Amino acid sequence: MSISCDMLVFGGTGDLTLHKLLPALYHLHRDGRLHSDVRILALARKKLDRAGYLALAERHCRAQVARGDFSVDTWQAFAQRLDYFAMDASQRGEFVRLAHHLGSGDRRVRVYYLATAPDLFEPIASHLESAGLAGENARIVLEKPIGHSLESARAINAAIGAVFAESRIYRIDHYLGKETVQNLMALRFANALFEPIWRAGHIDHVQITVAETLGVENRGGYYDHAGAMRDMLQNHLLQLLCLVAMEAPVRFDAESVRNEKVKVLQALKPITGMDVLDKTVRGQYGAGQIGGHDVPAYYFEPSIDNDSDTETFVAVQTEIDNWRWAGVPFYLRTGKRLPKQTSMIAIRFRQPPQQLFRETPLEMIDPNWILLSIQPEESMHMEIHVKQPGLDMDTRVMQMNASFVTTDEATLDAYETLLLDVIEGDRTLFIRFDEVEWAWRVVDPILKNWAVEREYIPTYPAGSWGPADANRLFDSDDQAWRNEL
Ligand code: BG6
Repeated sequence: MSISCDMLVFGGTGDLTLHKLLPALYHLHRDGRLHSDVRILALARKKLDRAGYLALAERHCRAQVARGDFSVDTWQAFAQRLDYFAMDASQRGEFVRLAHHLGSGDRRVRVYYLATAPDLFEPIASHLESAGLAGENARIVLEKPIGHSLESARAINAAIGAVFAESRIYRIDHYLGKETVQNLMALRFANALFEPIWRAGHIDHVQITVAETLGVENRGGYYDHAGAMRDMLQNHLLQLLCLVAMEAPVRFDAESVRNEKVKVLQALKPITGMDVLDKTVRGQYGAGQIGGHDVPAYYFEPSIDNDSDTETFVAVQTEIDNWRWAGVPFYLRTGKRLPKQTSMIAIRFRQPPQQLFRETPLEMIDPNWILLSIQPEESMHMEIHVKQPGLDMDTRVMQMNASFVTTDEATLDAYETLLLDVIEGDRTLFIRFDEVEWAWRVVDPILKNWAVEREYIPTYPAGSWGPADANRLFDSDDQAWRNEL
């Protein structure tokens, strides 16, 4: 059972709160994971009273909570924890009203969750301080993206850091809360099996794919200024890469784990100048079909300029310049409106030094793969050669499949895990300031290079695997994107 706290959610009527945070808190409440005294205060500009907010929140929770899982009784008990306070978070004076509303003298942990546009991060932190609300018992949670460049991320880190000590700042990358992402650490560091082969010399290359079928939905206003590089690659994909590539931390605690991740980011070979052309591919979805339905081109989506050149797909070839990984290409790609929703890490091994079983035609000799599916399935697959039954000494590929969860094991959703960690004060799965900055150092030169040639962006039909050009990133002809498990 976690500890008691007040959770204040700025952006209380926004998509993130209604679609993710409240359903996650509802589940935690239902499963008895929240201390009976945890109170949730949603804050936003909309003039709503408590009853109005509860009605809005209930409507969204009903829609988000898995079918058959929503119970009116549970909701009513959960709603007891929930309150609403209408305020304009950009106005300093409003925080005096908030402080008054909260009352004083209470040493409870107070969590400020900033589910707002990033341009409100700095004013909110400074207004909290001036209203005397940022004391020792206060924690702040920031959603990605932290800034839109290295420079702006530094400014945000400095401004938040002037009010909250780093130990009280929780920067969320919700991919780190996903079960299989944490399982990656368990696989690597709770088993001796993988370690000797987890390196150049044994691994041919690594692919990390996060594919979505969704378009920009109603987030066009934000997305058109971000694009796939800032929205996904700078954070989620680089975090996955860090977990695949990092050394074993000395301990499983926040600083040790994050130290190792930062070392990976520091070792990534910079992609600058002409390399940007060679090692990156971007694209924007045109009209097409997803699941048999026609979908419009990106520039016809709501709130998108019709001459927008924002990328909705990005693929990058990168390399980690250290002893373990030198010479092993890492291929990363992510895109919206791809044919299926799948997040996967695919690790291809080198061929054995000798081909003994000559019956098997050379072109049929597939290398070994380890495939980690993050979603929708949470599973691991290993492709190995076994003997083909029969008289001939011939081989075929067999897939060994292991699901990480059995049907009777309830796993926590990413936001459930992360919200519990914030309440309990565990920062292991959150991003440290220097991680954010090193990740921006990786993508900034690419974004700058793209910014000079903004007139043209290749398109790909919605429902395809992105621009065909993404295939040219591979180092050798026998490498290709792995789209299926
Ligand atoms: C968010 C991005 O961080 O992650 C979205 O802003 C994206 O654009 C989402 O759709 C994907 O998350 P998930 O958990 O659905 O894979």
